[in-house]
Amino acid sequence: MSGPSSNYDPVEVTPLSPDEVTRMRDEAIAAINAAADLGQLKAARIAHAGDRAPLTLANSEIGALPPQARAEAGKRVGAARGAVRQALADRTTELEAERDQQVLLTETVDVTLPWDRRPAGARHPVTMAADRLSDVFVAMGYEVAEGPEVEAEWYNFDALNFPPDHPARESQDTLFVAGPKEAGDGSGDPGHSGVVLRTHTSPVQIRAMLSRPLPLYVVSPGRCFRADALDATHSPVFHQIECLAVDEGLTMADLRGVIQAFVDAMFGEGLRTRFRPDYFPFTEPSGDVSMECHVCRGASTRAGGEPCRVCRSQGWIEIAGCGMVNPRVLIACGIDPGRYTGFAFGLGIERTLMIGHGVTDIRDTTEGDVRFSRAFGTEI
Ligand code: PHE
Repeated sequence: MSGPSSNYDPVEVTPLSPDEVTRMRDEAIAAINAAADLGQLKAARIAHAGDRAPLTLANSEIGALPPQARAEAGKRVGAARGAVRQALADRTTELEAERDQQVLLTETVDVTLPWDRRPAGARHPVTMAADRLSDVFVAMGYEVAEGPEVEAEWYNFDALNFPPDHPARESQDTLFVAGPKEAGDGSGDPGHSGVVLRTHTSPVQIRAMLSRPLPLYVVSPGRCFRADALDATHSPVFHQIECLAVDEGLTMADLRGVIQAFVDAMFGEGLRTRFRPDYFPFTEPSGDVSMECHVCRGASTRAGGEPCRVCRSQGWIEIAGCGMVNPRVLIACGIDPGRYTGFAFGLGIERTLMIGHGVTDIRDTTEGDVRFSRAFGTEI
């Protein structure tokens, strides 16, 4: 058996030559230093210090060398691998520090940023309009009076002098609250509860006359209900505001004066008001009130001659129903019509809002879209 050849020249084992080892080391260190982040460094580690890396493979060749050459080659390769390990450790430290710095920057909480910019919410434009309308009357010395939305038929109709067969009582106008006889007993008759969702704010007139001392000056904003389908001009739920005065010696001149003061306050001074006869069971005489169109100022055309859309070229806009309180209503409330007279008027709040702001679809006031509400400001 012959031993390993002592003539073996380690320089001939190319991967172990000093030049080659130096080249592999330099290549490894260059790749490590070129790594721009920890991901690239990991790739460099696998390529230059992993199991298949040139220096690792060179290291495993050492055993094949003749014994006398092993020590030197081992030293050379060991030193090169040590340098690569050191470079890896140094670059790791650098890149980890960079990453930590980056994390500190990107995850910084800027305590100077404003924290209170979340919209705080606001009252609905209809609520704001109701308050503004009420304020006009409160400024004239009126008190705000409220009544229930689920109302006795007696307050909503009977006391207001609606005869039992008045068409407004019919179910296509009025939403009745089901009575003791439940719908579904086969008869189709919902029973008669005597309770309705109030169809106007006028029942508050009765409640005020029955509960407050005379003289009486009240204003009642509130929600009303009618069996109408929702479309651009009708809503089954809407708001009215009612004004009622009962005192000695009140005449239609007082009614006109209050209405003029109200129009001046809501739409600006200088718009004329007009009364035309109408009929309501609870007022006599009754009228409807129109005001001169606040856009075309009665001219019925806009500046360029185009028709005025706000008043539909009428020059006038109907705003309220009104009248002198019917003596029968005063009597129903225990008030002596020989001594006291009263006037009342009522108007739709959505309608007033729509007229004042050029809103053409009542659904905008019911849908709760903040893009609509925001235009009215964010009063709380
Ligand atoms: N309640 C009436 C309506 O709903 C309006 C009105 C109020 C008329 C007061 C006269 C007096 O149409």
